[in-house]
Amino acid sequence: MDLQRSSIRFLLVFLFSWLPLATCSVSYDHRAIIVNGQRRILISGSIHYPRSSPEMWPDLIQKAKDGGLDVIQTYVFWNGHEPSPGMYYFEGRYDLVRFIKLVKQAGLYAHLRIGPYVCAEWNFGGFPVWLKYIPGISFRTNNAPFKAAMAGFTKKIVDMMKAEGLFESQGGPIILSQIENEYGPMEYEIGAPGRAYTEWAANMAVGLGTGVPWVMCKQDDAPDPIINTCNGFYCDYFSPDKPYKPKMWTEAWTGWFTEFGGPVPHRPVEDLAFSVARFIQKGGAFINYYMYHGGTNFGRTAGGPFIATSYDYDAPLDEYGLLRQPKWGHLKDLHRAIKMCEPALVSGDPIVASLGHYQQSHVFKSKSGACAAFLANYDSNSFAKVAFEGMHYNLPPWSISILPDCKNTGFNTARVGVQTTRMIMTPVRSNGFSWVSYNEETASYNDDLTALARLLEQINVTRDTTDYLWYMTDVTIDPNEEFLRNGKYPVLSVLSAGHALHVFINSQLSGTVYGSLENPKLTFTGNVNLRAGRNKISLLSIAVGLPNVGPHFETWNAGVLGPVMLNGLNEGRRDLSWQRWSYKIGLKGEALRLHSLSGSSSVEWFEGSLVAQKQPLTWYKTTFNRPDGEDALALDMGSMGKGQVWINDQSIGRYWPAYKAYGSCGDCSYRGTFNEKKCQTNCGESSQRWYHVPRSWLKPTGNLLVVFEELGGNPTGISLVRRTVGSVCADVSEWQPTLENWQTKTYGRPKAHLSCATGQKISSIKFASFGTPQGVCGNFWEGSCHAHKSYDAFEKNCIGQQWCSVTIAPEVFGGDPCPNIMKKLSVEAICS
Ligand code: GAL
Repeated sequence: MDLQRSSIRFLLVFLFSWLPLATCSVSYDHRAIIVNGQRRILISGSIHYPRSSPEMWPDLIQKAKDGGLDVIQTYVFWNGHEPSPGMYYFEGRYDLVRFIKLVKQAGLYAHLRIGPYVCAEWNFGGFPVWLKYIPGISFRTNNAPFKAAMAGFTKKIVDMMKAEGLFESQGGPIILSQIENEYGPMEYEIGAPGRAYTEWAANMAVGLGTGVPWVMCKQDDAPDPIINTCNGFYCDYFSPDKPYKPKMWTEAWTGWFTEFGGPVPHRPVEDLAFSVARFIQKGGAFINYYMYHGGTNFGRTAGGPFIATSYDYDAPLDEYGLLRQPKWGHLKDLHRAIKMCEPALVSGDPIVASLGHYQQSHVFKSKSGACAAFLANYDSNSFAKVAFEGMHYNLPPWSISILPDCKNTGFNTARVGVQTTRMIMTPVRSNGFSWVSYNEETASYNDDLTALARLLEQINVTRDTTDYLWYMTDVTIDPNEEFLRNGKYPVLSVLSAGHALHVFINSQLSGTVYGSLENPKLTFTGNVNLRAGRNKISLLSIAVGLPNVGPHFETWNAGVLGPVMLNGLNEGRRDLSWQRWSYKIGLKGEALRLHSLSGSSSVEWFEGSLVAQKQPLTWYKTTFNRPDGEDALALDMGSMGKGQVWINDQSIGRYWPAYKAYGSCGDCSYRGTFNEKKCQTNCGESSQRWYHVPRSWLKPTGNLLVVFEELGGNPTGISLVRRTVGSVCADVSEWQPTLENWQTKTYGRPKAHLSCATGQKISSIKFASFGTPQGVCGNFWEGSCHAHKSYDAFEKNCIGQQWCSVTIAPEVFGGDPCPNIMKKLSVEAICS
């Protein structure tokens, strides 16, 4: 009896001692993230839910899965979820639970970066603006009011996820979380209070008992059990602070963001794949692409200041959710190669050996006999012939070959086997929209309650409810002023903390100035046409997104802080800074909600020949029908200056095609260390011309399109465009490694695969050359060696097809045109 009781007790003790472990389904060690007992090398990608429409989410997630991802990573956007204290919003694009559930449905894991500071080029780094006005608050340091607010929101999110059973410990998809974001450098700067805050944040997070690990990125002193992780273009050099933590890369930057005034950054996929292979060969266990799909900064969510509305990021899935090729496909091939190495990778550290001056091998072996090798050539100029385990390998410059069986090359980071896709934007309708217009009122000084004898900081006044704040004053000019006779008008100078400023004198636009991300401050200096008597000076100051990064970015100012001076009067200089100014928050059209169906019918719009053309501060409206089909849509705003645009009450975002990209563009090689300025396009053109219109925002007919133009653009130039595949190219070496037939070990010749979009067909072959062709997709030309039958196979196999493939072998193109020379095949096919 006693024996029985004690054995029952033993059984219970045994069971309970296992319970915490059983619920703790995600853990880690030096080499791997361990999910449900499985030691994994995980591949992840960032998709930020509010940067696309919920209707796009399932497709984005599926394409991420098809691209070989295991995990979807997202930040949580506090200011989207708690627009005013205690008032929560989790609908539409902010339906976080729906997003995480879709990730689960697709069979993927989630990494939830709660922050709640997120940076992310998002307005105010994700903080609600009201947070700034909590008495005594100081952001991201050991400050009681801040910590209370941060703990409150973090707990709210964790509780919400728990209530829905979304942590892996509950059977959900969330395997990892994140607290804070890149706090290490900030802690270093502020010292002891920073350290105390880190400790607090770590304890607070761990205390929430999610059952899954937390990470802190760029936080070399992350308190246990939190894992410190790396962000950057390369992270192979990084090691976590403790030997029992896995080596994790939370942000592998796939490109970079665009700012108004800047060119569009690109990152060649050969270099991105090289950086990832380099990280994995040095023992990396987790890599997340930031961004895998960047999307759009709809509404006023862009941070900065001056972050563009497009957050395309040159990501593997473009802003519209379409495959960016070859980026998406080449990474998919890389992931497949890495996955084939997984059993060897998780088994231990690599054995590293030198293969030459700039060449190395990293070999992973498991006890059960799996072997994977990475052969690296760090030389950015030359090919390298290396010998490894009795075989010879030719490594392109700045590349890594992956040998999933330690013998055969399954993948090389610099040899792209997948097609390149060239996207085009074609107008949906040729004759454009028919517009009506409404003139926004130029506000002028009013000696009302808002009038004060000083200049106010903009965000303190608007609380960021609008981009716009009017600063208005009067200037009285004596009839005896010299300038009234000699025509030498006085010079007005206005100093503003940013971000853009329109100067109106007696309701006439007198000039516009704006800053940049690097220097948001600005000065207006210009002759002003004043007359004898009272003159109205109205300054429309415009915020272009609140800062999201930098030491104490929350204290950065915006708006006209002065001085405001008038030079060239009889008295010399008059300081207007301390005279009375009145204020008006926002535009009249905003107050009337002109962008909404009900609001837009509350005023009289000008029609026909009366429609304002090229006038500053003008509202335009039109209606249109949804174009047929499924193509992604955008507005071509190239003819406009600066403003905002709405469709059916929803804000597409800020547009600013008048801001031309300043910087250096030109040829760029994937070889050598990358930085965000290395490969740019669009110099001298608009930083952003096209603005994404999610299809799900449209009804079949009668869609309301409203534009507010600040500068005086030409609305007749606006058009709705489709984004489609224009042409597809393959540019493949005859020695392209391939994972096809890997299982059967019948290593065939590589193939050129060409595929237009669903519903399209290959209509012609624009270029084909087997030999030594030059150039890039869209601009190929023949080299000195060219097989005369290069076109034949493509014309025969591809014309009239949606997709086709052609084997790359001399006999296919009528024989070897130049024996003993390394050849490749370049082809461009038109899709229509
Ligand atoms: C990182 C930051 C991200 C994002 C990125 C640049 O430092 O953690 O949130 O801002 O830079 O796109």
